[in-house]
Amino acid sequence: MKKILFAASEAVPFVKTGGLADVVGSLPKYFDKKKYDVRIILPKYACMEEKFKKQLKYVSHFYVELGWRKQYAGILEALVDDIHYYFIDNEFYFAGDKPYGEIYQDVEKFAFFSKAVIEAVKRIRFVPDIIHCNDWQTGLIPVFLKNVYHKQEEYKKIRTIFSIHNIRFQGRWMIPTVKDITGLPDKLFTADCLETYGESNYLKGGIVSADAVTTVSKSYAMEIMTPEGGEGLDGVLRQHSYKLFGILNGLDYEEFNPQKDKYIPYNFDSQTVFEEKAKNKAILQEKMGLPVKKDVFLVGMVSRMSDQKGFDLVDYMLDEILYHENIQLVVLGTGEDRYENMFRHFAGKYPDKMAANVGYSEEMAHLIYAGADAFLMPSLFEPCGLSQLMSLRYGTVPMVRETGGLKDTVEPYNKYEGTGTGFSFANYNAHEMAAMLRTAMEVYYKEAKEWKDLMLRGMQQDYSWISSVSEYELLYQSVGEIMD
Ligand code: ADP
Ligand code: GLC
Repeated sequence: MKKILFAASEAVPFVKTGGLADVVGSLPKYFDKKKYDVRIILPKYACMEEKFKKQLKYVSHFYVELGWRKQYAGILEALVDDIHYYFIDNEFYFAGDKPYGEIYQDVEKFAFFSKAVIEAVKRIRFVPDIIHCNDWQTGLIPVFLKNVYHKQEEYKKIRTIFSIHNIRFQGRWMIPTVKDITGLPDKLFTADCLETYGESNYLKGGIVSADAVTTVSKSYAMEIMTPEGGEGLDGVLRQHSYKLFGILNGLDYEEFNPQKDKYIPYNFDSQTVFEEKAKNKAILQEKMGLPVKKDVFLVGMVSRMSDQKGFDLVDYMLDEILYHENIQLVVLGTGEDRYENMFRHFAGKYPDKMAANVGYSEEMAHLIYAGADAFLMPSLFEPCGLSQLMSLRYGTVPMVRETGGLKDTVEPYNKYEGTGTGFSFANYNAHEMAAMLRTAMEVYYKEAKEWKDLMLRGMQQDYSWISSVSEYELLYQSVGEIMD
């Protein structure tokens, strides 16, 4: 039995700000239980919902040395769907109303978390074969293991995998402060390990020190090795390309299942999608305060409002599109003020065509996936993207930019061959996005049969975890073997 410990800063159902939580909270469920014991370790944030906090049981506590500091670390535990979740408790670091704060706080918070995870494995009596780390918040785990804990008996054999879900966020901060926080030796703050551009960089530390590095789609794995996509780390990744693998995310098909989804008023499958989606659509329109119309092209967006998601293109074209086209747009999201205000503005200007729900709602998100005709995701970059996978599963036709995981999962419609699952455009250009939208509308309004076929082809795709899990299993094996 191989023991794997997933270390991450968020995971469903306990805490979620984006797709990382979906991945960490679902992937572990799908490993072969006869061969793998996969567990998860997270911070215990004060902002976690009360109902989740109540489930946690005290296991143990200890103190973590961070430079000259000695900090309390409690360990709590919960069991969900037969998966063990552990939590590191510290009311100073994990206070606040959100998981993430200012970067200068977060670099200390996640240095503490990373060291606490390593120390915790002895106390929970689960010394794993592999710690599977995720994003910069856990980047110091491989660094500590390889350089500080490597001589200790319990830790000698632990291997690490480092998964990059978004290379934009790197955990960069001033070297003297990070030396002080971590107590790591001076020799690690060079270009061979933690240093980039004169700063300390947790993501780079993770890449350099881990036994293998993965990212969440094959296209993104290529993109991050280029100057355009590497966010300054493309050289580091090219240097470590021998251990870099692109493994596509899957979707939790139990959670995102239109037949059983408890958030949607009318459940459906590919037999009933046409009638039932129409009913969900009417409810969506009503809840969003739009005129309830059957035959208007209803586009949904559910997203963090960040420039990553292509909102600058939307901003550029939205007035023109809403003015001229027979379209409705529903948007759910929170994030940067400039985008929230842009959507509020257009919702005010075109109340019959546009509705903005500035907030976070699991229920509304599912209703949009179930009730919209099409889903717009014109991302500037997209490591994988889960929203387009949810759309496909719910018979909502994705309209995406060909980047990262979007390119790998949405096959553009080909009217001559009757193939494809969505619409796409190549360059980050607002007019190309508008042209794609108009092409989609042409099909929707004029080729009803073709549109229905597109929906069905999308629903038939399999983006469950099944195939990706076997890729991870192979990787776990090879990482173990190389080192044994
Ligand atoms: P990212 O992780 O970059 O935000 P993904 O597409 O991988 O993008 O995952 C986003 C996840 O967050 C999806 O599960 C999506 O439904 C969800 N989500 C984003 N914004 C909201 C929101 N405002 N309300 C509810 N769910 C949201
Ligand atoms: C990041 C990426 C997103 C990806 C998710 C899960 O948040 O932005 O594309 O799907 O991580 O891997």
